[in-house]
Amino acid sequence: MNMQTKHTADATTVEEGLAIAEAQDRLYNDEMATETAMANTLLTPRFYTTDFDELDAIDVSGVREDWDKLIAQMEADPNRGHFKKNEDWDTVDWDGMDPDLKKEFIDFLISSCTAEFSGCVLYKEMKRRGNNKDITQLFQLMARDEARHAGFINDALREAGLRVNLGFLTQKKKYTYFRPKFIYYATYLSEKIGYARYITIFRHLEAHPEHRFHPIFKWFREWCNDEFSHGEAFALLMKTDPKLTQSATNKLWIKFFLTAVYATMYVRDHQRPAFHKALGVDPDWYAHEVFTKTSELSEQIFPLTLDIDHPKWQPTLEALQKANVDLADAVENKQAMKKIGAQLRAAKSFATLFFIPSKKNVVPENTRLEPVY
Ligand SMILES: [Fe+2]
Ligand SMILES: [Fe+2]
Repeated sequence: MNMQTKHTADATTVEEGLAIAEAQDRLYNDEMATETAMANTLLTPRFYTTDFDELDAIDVSGVREDWDKLIAQMEADPNRGHFKKNEDWDTVDWDGMDPDLKKEFIDFLISSCTAEFSGCVLYKEMKRRGNNKDITQLFQLMARDEARHAGFINDALREAGLRVNLGFLTQKKKYTYFRPKFIYYATYLSEKIGYARYITIFRHLEAHPEHRFHPIFKWFREWCNDEFSHGEAFALLMKTDPKLTQSATNKLWIKFFLTAVYATMYVRDHQRPAFHKALGVDPDWYAHEVFTKTSELSEQIFPLTLDIDHPKWQPTLEALQKANVDLADAVENKQAMKKIGAQLRAAKSFATLFFIPSKKNVVPENTRLEPVY
């Protein structure tokens, strides 16, 4: 293990991670990876900012018992030593990898790294701006985890001669403003769906190790437990104010975010056929599996779940995905009419998904869950 690898994996604070990233800038110049991470489209991971004062004003005393347990668990830091390459990290034959697979896998790593880092930047900013001890403590712990996750993926990318310039991303990527309640819905969901995605791949490869074409998948189980805890924290934050999940308007917003997050995942994953083939995973099966797990988990706090078994659900997702392929094609070939047609079809498909009646859910008294998949 070289020193840089060790340092990155050891980084426990974002500041350290950023300092290392800056030092690495002098050693690597990987414009391609950073450009990919910089791209802002509907489908690429975004950077967020919010009303930090409103977040700082949250009073967690109503959920104190669960809160303290969760924080104690995160402070104990069971994954302190996890994000390091060890003897389980097999040599990766990047040069011998099928070119389509290599391209899609790198795209997967870059977009995962960007998503992890986007969480890190948001959490760190909350920690920096807040005065509320409960809130700043939680966000510091979550930023620590996301910095490790992003750093570890960057380590994997470096072996392929690439690296996402995290320091540059922080300064230059566009930030999208979301009101705090939208941050809760979106971030809660992205943490829980992140958990469901990582654990589904991990369990699948446990049963079919011959498909494990890269060692990073071996790290997914402990990794997804971090995401699980982050999701638990957001569930508790939402629980402090019942209006957030019970008012009629907010129920619609929750349905909107569920639909957007599920649809985005479906479309994005279908852009990587070679990657899923190498994993031995049918992306339709995978999507359904991840949606099922995420829906079950989100019943801890959301008053509704999407009806993913409704007869219109799967065909409409497929239509949305097809519209997205046509849209990308029209943009590439500068076909204005085709582009408008594809956008309209995509919007119509999204609306169809959104208006499928959802299933009511009675939120349990005790929201806390443990990772069981
Ligand atoms: Fe993460
Ligand atoms: Fe996370």
